[in-house]
Amino acid sequence: MIESCGIRLDFTGTEGFLLPAEVDAMEPAVAAAAAELAGGTSPGADFLGWLDLPSRITDDELAAIEAEAERVREFADAWVVVGIGGSYLGARAVLEALGGPADGAPEILFAGTGLCSASLQDTLRRLEGKEFGVGIISKSGTTLEPAVAFRMLRALLVEKHAGAGAARRITAITDQARGALRTLTDQEGYHAFVIPDDVGGRFSVLTPVGLVPLAVAGVDVRGLVKGAREMQKVCDTAPLRENPAHLYAAVRHGLYGKGFPVEVMSSFHSGLRQLQEWWKQLFGESEGKGGAGIFPASTVYTTDLHSLGQYLQDGRRELQETFLVARSAVGDLKVPVDPDGRDLDGLDYLAGRSLDEINWKAFEGTRNAHLEGGVPCTTIEIDKVTPETVGALIYLFEKAVAVSGRLLGVNPFDQPGVETYKREMFRLLGKPGAGS
Ligand code: PA5
Repeated sequence: MIESCGIRLDFTGTEGFLLPAEVDAMEPAVAAAAAELAGGTSPGADFLGWLDLPSRITDDELAAIEAEAERVREFADAWVVVGIGGSYLGARAVLEALGGPADGAPEILFAGTGLCSASLQDTLRRLEGKEFGVGIISKSGTTLEPAVAFRMLRALLVEKHAGAGAARRITAITDQARGALRTLTDQEGYHAFVIPDDVGGRFSVLTPVGLVPLAVAGVDVRGLVKGAREMQKVCDTAPLRENPAHLYAAVRHGLYGKGFPVEVMSSFHSGLRQLQEWWKQLFGESEGKGGAGIFPASTVYTTDLHSLGQYLQDGRRELQETFLVARSAVGDLKVPVDPDGRDLDGLDYLAGRSLDEINWKAFEGTRNAHLEGGVPCTTIEIDKVTPETVGALIYLFEKAVAVSGRLLGVNPFDQPGVETYKREMFRLLGKPGAGS
């Protein structure tokens, strides 16, 4: 058991599959990976800006983000975050983990996360009759999905607001010099924030990419950064056994070597679903290269115990499971006493007990069952889901995937495979210069 910043990691459920001595033997490799990162000598070294980002963010930068959020809140009932992959998943993950926008903040909608017209139509319908603003987020400034959604939303704003009215309702977060979005931003005079050159999309939640939408939603972004900063301090210096990111990286990598190439992150809280989605992107895009990598999957229990539970318990024994659980969840409903006192539904043994307690027992029971079924289990337990603990968790995972990727021998900071579908799609769409 290791504890930092309100987060406990328990690896006892992996010890029957990977001996503690085998983990200890990985210390030199982990230290070498960490040293490469710290020294800027790892592959992808141009994208290491996230490593000390929490401690580098200045008060002025946070104040500028908060001021933009204040400005948006003055005119918007709803704010549409337009972005895909690393340009929206982090903000959405934090927002949902914390229970959604604060009272008085605009409703936050997401668009440009795909090319499905039904989904965009639904968003447009939800904007009818509302005063809305748009946050367009794209590092490259050329990604098709957000660009198409933005064109539609921009058209709507221009139709509704004459002159500079539309531009005033748009906040652009993009590269400082490159891309079509940068050109548009400069020409139209949008309020704008820069995505640092040395931070890739999936590592960018603590840049304006994540912080602007979260501030608009009324999230305490200073708390988020504070938590990340504390975790950065621990992960920078602590030896393997006291370093949550390094230890998690070592254990999952060790299990991979023992024939567990799929990692399922399981939670018991629907509010953590988007955090699992963010984690999947972070790990999948960073590690899945050159025919290698742990495949990241996710489940939300107990719902998925009634769909995927059978496979987890009894299917191919190649899964390692990481439980992400929160000890005190937000709601606290209790099972009532039987209204007619007859206990015909047989639930009297639960009367007066909270759903959170029952859910916790479901977690403990599931972990025991999966262990018994031959699944190595790691548990990441958060005391309470707060901006600070979520910030700490974000940094923990970012550092872990960087170390884990290096243990695997890949460049954790590029995504060459993503280009292949784009090339094919653009060729089929007849994009100028895309080949035929
Ligand atoms: O992590 C990444 O780099 C990707 O997921 C990108 O964030 C995603 O493809 C969107 O790219 P962009 O911000 O350039 O539109």
